[in-house]
Formats: sequence, structure tokens, C-alpha cells
Amino acid sequence: MARAKAATKKTAALNSNLVKSISAPLRKADDCLDKIIAGDSIEALRALPDNFADLVFADPPYNLQLGGDLTRPDNSRVAGVDDDWDKFGSFRDYDAFTRAWLEEARRILKPDGAIWVIGSYHNIFRVGSALQNLGYWLLNDVIWVKTNPMPNFRGTRFTNAHETLIWASKSKESRPTFNYSALKTANDDLQMRSDWLMPICTGNERLKGATGSKVHPTQKPEALLYRILLATTNPGDIVVDPFFGSGTTGAVAKMLGRRFIGIDRDADYIAAAAKRIAAVKPSEAQSLAVTPSRRSAPRVPFGSIVEKGLIKPGEELYAPQKKHVARVRADGSIAVKGPDGAVEGSIHKIGAHVQKAEACNGWTYWHYETKTGLKPIDFLREKMRNSARG
Ligand SMILES: C[S@@+](CC[C@H](N)C(=O)[O-])C[C@H]1O[C@@H](n2cnc3c(N)ncnc32)[C@H](O)[C@@H]1O
Repeated sequence: MARAKAATKKTAALNSNLVKSISAPLRKADDCLDKIIAGDSIEALRALPDNFADLVFADPPYNLQLGGDLTRPDNSRVAGVDDDWDKFGSFRDYDAFTRAWLEEARRILKPDGAIWVIGSYHNIFRVGSALQNLGYWLLNDVIWVKTNPMPNFRGTRFTNAHETLIWASKSKESRPTFNYSALKTANDDLQMRSDWLMPICTGNERLKGATGSKVHPTQKPEALLYRILLATTNPGDIVVDPFFGSGTTGAVAKMLGRRFIGIDRDADYIAAAAKRIAAVKPSEAQSLAVTPSRRSAPRVPFGSIVEKGLIKPGEELYAPQKKHVARVRADGSIAVKGPDGAVEGSIHKIGAHVQKAEACNGWTYWHYETKTGLKPIDFLREKMRNSARG
């Protein structure tokens, strides 16, 4: 009786308008937006069209290879990950599976798209190698340091207190979204680092079943997805999560005004995720704008600063500590004295030349004289941008 009731409930949840099944390849992904595809990840990815996703976030099986039950000192059983979805016959099987889904994930990404994969020491090195072999371009690895990790009950190893995330773009040529300034603002004006300190998912955020047990063994904290989506997507972007589980990616995407497509093959997880996402209230559109990153700010050539009269032809620019002096020319190039006469070029080229470096950011290297001392010419560029914004 109880089983029949549970089955009816499950079917009802799977009939929710959030859940979808696909049987043939799709030309457009529109019908799947903000939906959970019920089915195998690789098959579902194969059915999705090329080049449409802005981001893939994946929390794939870890292939933990747990040997027997793990118990606490009081003999209570630790609820680890011993589910069938985490079992593979061998490393070779796991690698073939990893390669297959990563290949499809890369195909569905836009040329400037990117992927995040989270894993533990059991699988992340294999995933990293597959990413590179498939042509992804690694951008960062981020360490999620858990403030409340599970102890090593047997006392035979270090406490396993972190997971690793790899952020990679579709290719070396991609220009993936990175909201640098927004993250800096969120971090009290300090550059965001690659070690993220966050608790594991507990308390009210943790989805629980009727008996109070966890709905999903590896539910990720929303704060982790919040940072990832804020950093590497914009409102309206499409995020695909091929291992959706309890739907953390979908819940945060909906909250932040991003579109999502989730995939999972477990009916219970899908039901829990659909219920969770239906309850999320999206943030108001006007609260979703973030501090624009410099890369997305309008381009201001040094020449236009000279045109505008903020720096005059003939004025001098200085390297830090006045180590080098350059003279500004009417066309926005600068010149320094060399042993064989003047050397001219852009602020970047001459900055690199005087330092004997391969490259230089002339905006931060060259300074101009003010009543209060030297200021980087980047200050004038910001002034131009602000006056253009009104
Ligand atoms: C590590 S969990 C993801 C947890 C998720 N990030 C969350 O916050 O709840 C991996 C999920 O992938 C699903 N999964 C594993 N292999 C799959 C496959 N081949 N096709 C579809 N889903 C799969 C499992 O059912 C499980 O829910």
C-alpha cells in the first residue's frame, strides 16, 4: 500500500511540467529550457543541438570504490556514497564514460562557452586529463575547502577536507565570461582567490525525505553554485548540468535569472529536484546586474585620451619610481630615448621595451604627474569611461 502510494507520488512528480523526456535529436534546445531531462546523461546530451550552451556545470559520479561499510567509533553507519550510479567496473570503464560525456558537453557549448567539473581525489585527475585530451583549455582549478568536513573515522589518513573544481573553456581561443569585478566587489574589493572556504550542505538547505534521511547523498551547497554562476555566466545564459541530482544548479540558476537544463536518470532525485526548483523565487531582474568587468567595458584607446586633452602631446609619462621617462606624441604613441635614438610605439609596446619584457599593460605601467604625486594613466581611462556612462 505504502509502496503503491509512493509510486503514484513519483509518477505525479515526474509528470510535473519541469520534467521532460527526449526520444529523438533536437534541432533547438528551447523545449528543454528550465527542465529536467529524465534519462541517461550521455544519451540526453547526444540529443541536444551543437553550440547552444553558455556553461556546463557537472558533478559526475566520483567512482569512490568504497570497500564495505564505514562506521563511526560508536558503530553507527556513515551515510557515504554507495549508490549504483557511482559504481564502475574498472578505471578503464570510468575513463570511457568520462570521455563520452565530456565530448558531448563540449559539442553543445558555444565557442566561448566553458565547463566546471567538481570531483574528489578519486576522479578529478582522470577528469582533468580527459578535459585536456579533448581540447578544452584549463583556466583554473579551485579548491573548495570544507569548513565542516566529515572526520576520517578510522584515523588512518588526513581528514579529507576539500573537493577540487576545474574550470575550463571550450578551446584555447574561447573568451569565456568572467565577471572579475563583480567577484572582487563580492570579496570586499579583494581579488577572488582560487581557495573557497564554504561549509558542506547541512541544516534547512539539506533536502530530507519523510523519515528525515537525506534525499541525496552528495547535495552541493547553493553558495558554491551561486559563486560559479555569478562569476562565469550572465543573466539569461543557459547552464546545462548533466548530473543534476537534487537540482542545486537549477535552484540557483532560477534564483539568479539564468536558464538551466538538468539531466538525471533517478526518478526520486528528479522528483525532489522538481519540487525544490518549483519553490524557488527568482530575484528581480534589476537586482541581477553586477559590476561590469573591465573586459566588457567600452574600449578606450590611449589616443582618445590625448584627443580629449586629458594628456597633451609633449607631456611626460613615468614608469614606477620614475625609472623610465616617455614623451607623449600627438597620435597617442609614446617615445623613449634609446642608445640609437628615439624608440616609439604604443604605451604597451614601449612599456615592454623598457622592461625587456614580452608584454606589458601600459595602462598600469605608465604614470602621469598630478599635484598629489604620480597616478597610473588607467585613472584617466576610467575617467573617460565614467563620463561616457554619464
Ligand atoms: C554527484 S551526484 C550530483 C549531485 C548534485 N550536484 C546535487 O547538488 O544534488 C551525481 C548524479 O548523477 C546521476 N547520474 C550518474 N550517472 C548518470 C547517468 N549515466 N545518467 C544520468 N544521471 C546519472 C546520479 O543519479 C546522481 O544524482
